[in-house]
Amino acid sequence: MPTAYDQLLDATIQHLEDLKAHGVRFVSVSPESLGALAQPVPRTVQSTAKPTPPAAPAPHSAIHNVKSEIAPSIEMALPLALPGGTPPPPTAPLSPEAKAAAFAKLRARALACLKCPQLASSRRNVVFGVGSIDAGLMFVGEAPGADEDEQAEPFVGKAGQLLTKIIETMGLQRGDVYIANILKCRPDTPGQSAGNRKPTPDEMKTCIPYLHEQIDLIRPRVLVALGGTAMEGLLNKTGIAKLRGHWHTYRGIPLMPTYHPAYLLRNQALAEKRKVWEDMLQVMEQLGMSISEKQRKFFLRS
Ligand code: URA
Repeated sequence: MPTAYDQLLDATIQHLEDLKAHGVRFVSVSPESLGALAQPVPRTVQSTAKPTPPAAPAPHSAIHNVKSEIAPSIEMALPLALPGGTPPPPTAPLSPEAKAAAFAKLRARALACLKCPQLASSRRNVVFGVGSIDAGLMFVGEAPGADEDEQAEPFVGKAGQLLTKIIETMGLQRGDVYIANILKCRPDTPGQSAGNRKPTPDEMKTCIPYLHEQIDLIRPRVLVALGGTAMEGLLNKTGIAKLRGHWHTYRGIPLMPTYHPAYLLRNQALAEKRKVWEDMLQVMEQLGMSISEKQRKFFLRS
């Protein structure tokens, strides 16, 4: 039996999600409520207690900030922002001006982010994303590496150059698509002068609301998850070798997982390149792009 606390928590999450689905981005929470939320979870409360209605919306604190600022006990029970399986918000698309303004605001918030103190102090730049905010196709990677941290742009190192080649082989330019990562800061590697590390679950949970908001604003027609970490972050699914090549859905958007380009740099087998290319052919078909005979045959032994 769920406790009254669980019921109240579920009702509050549902209410916040409904508000967000209707375009509300801010709710007010009184200092008293925040103080109460910071208390330990009352596990002994009877399940018959009536949930009190959640706070009415008011334009001051962002929903995701409220989620991240309230008591750890509540925060742990909240999903990774809105989970990838949640349907897309039924809101009308923003005007081009409003969309650009919302995107600029989001970017400014991410650029000033200090939520992971160790990453904020080790980073050179916040790597927010690059490309067209009207793109029909969006690629999501893991996290910036040293080159990306240096240049403040995702996928500019060796793996990035390979991603650019893939995009161009599809008949597109980098500027035609949008590219972002699960994490906006380079994962720190204290004591190491080189190398990268996978983001921790905590880092991913902290940063991913920015990506959810980017996707909500861009509304691409197709998403490509590059590698296992992107799939874990977006859909909480693991096992990229089995997941890739099959369509998934992120809040109503068709999502194709494929191998990360860094994997192709480590494993140069033609068969692995072909797998990624077949995934991209499926993406092109989904987008209604024309595909030449030459494109269909790439990485097949003749
Ligand atoms: N790998 C990623 O996942 N993202 C980048 O931006 C660069 C390398």
